[in-house]
Amino acid sequence: MPSANRLNTALALLAAASTISATSITFHNTSPSPICYKVEFTSGTLPTQNGVTCDSSPGLMVQGGQNLTVNSSADYNGAITAMVNNSNVKGGRYEINFAAQEGNCWYDVDFHLGLSDGTLGPSSHQPLVNGNPSLAGEQDCLAKANAAWPSTTNQAALLAYPDYLKQGTDGKLDFVYMDSNAPQVVIDFFQLQADFTAYVDAGSQAGENSSAAVVKAANFMSWVVQAVNMEIVAF
Ligand SMILES: *[C@@H]1O[C@H](CO)[C@@H](O)[C@H](O)[C@H]1NC(C)=O
Ligand SMILES: *[C@@H]1O[C@H](CO)[C@@H](O)[C@H](O)[C@H]1NC(C)=O
Ligand SMILES: *[C@@H]1O[C@H](CO)[C@@H](O)[C@H](O)[C@H]1NC(C)=O
Ligand SMILES: *[C@@H]1O[C@H](CO)[C@@H](O)[C@H](O)[C@H]1NC(C)=O
Repeated sequence: MPSANRLNTALALLAAASTISATSITFHNTSPSPICYKVEFTSGTLPTQNGVTCDSSPGLMVQGGQNLTVNSSADYNGAITAMVNNSNVKGGRYEINFAAQEGNCWYDVDFHLGLSDGTLGPSSHQPLVNGNPSLAGEQDCLAKANAAWPSTTNQAALLAYPDYLKQGTDGKLDFVYMDSNAPQVVIDFFQLQADFTAYVDAGSQAGENSSAAVVKAANFMSWVVQAVNMEIVAF
């Protein structure tokens, strides 16, 4: 007969095992187009699909209107990048770290290599550990940019970069784009005026004379939520 202590140990191990296997990431692709999610990691594992390659890396293909849940290891720490526009353009990068703190997820959305309409947060939609709202990213980048556009005083300077912003005949923006070559004026617009809930500036070198965008990105930081089931929604 097992002693009470051994039984308790066995039960504790079982509980720990079920906590570990419950770590997951769910993808909801509410857009009509397929999205190839490029998977990278610095620790742990996240199973990818056989034969799926996104931007030369293993990945997960989620068809338009479909959902997918994958169980990661409890120590997964990595980045998942949405490849949009028929998988040839980098969109939002979702940085997810279950490894830093057991039972918690540290995360952020990074738009500094590409923009796409998508959010990241706990599947439970519970608030962050600090009580703030937990939804990172943007459901509609173009709409958010347009909300800021009428009060933007340097429109001409921005429209000088048609690779990144274009204005339609109605005066509204009809195209927004980001990549690693974007000029600072464009980065500042998305980070400060449009106020995207994501890193647009890399924010890594905030110092004495930093620009406002660098300071804002540095203050955005990673968020932490007491949850191990995360959800990426594409729009
Ligand atoms: C993921 O883990 C849950 C238990 O937490 C399990 O029910 C489910 O079958 C697992 N899914 C896969 C694909 O392994
Ligand atoms: C995907 O998930 C959403 C939210 O849970 C649900 O409403 C929808 O029916 C699911 N779609 C499919 C195709 O299962
Ligand atoms: C999306 O792909 C089309 C070709 O399929 C291309 O013409 C267009 O420039 C791409 N969009 C971006 C933002 O690169
Ligand atoms: C910040 O700017 C001031 C004034 O231009 C300059 O004296 C100082 O060296 C700069 N500091 C750094 C860290 O670049």
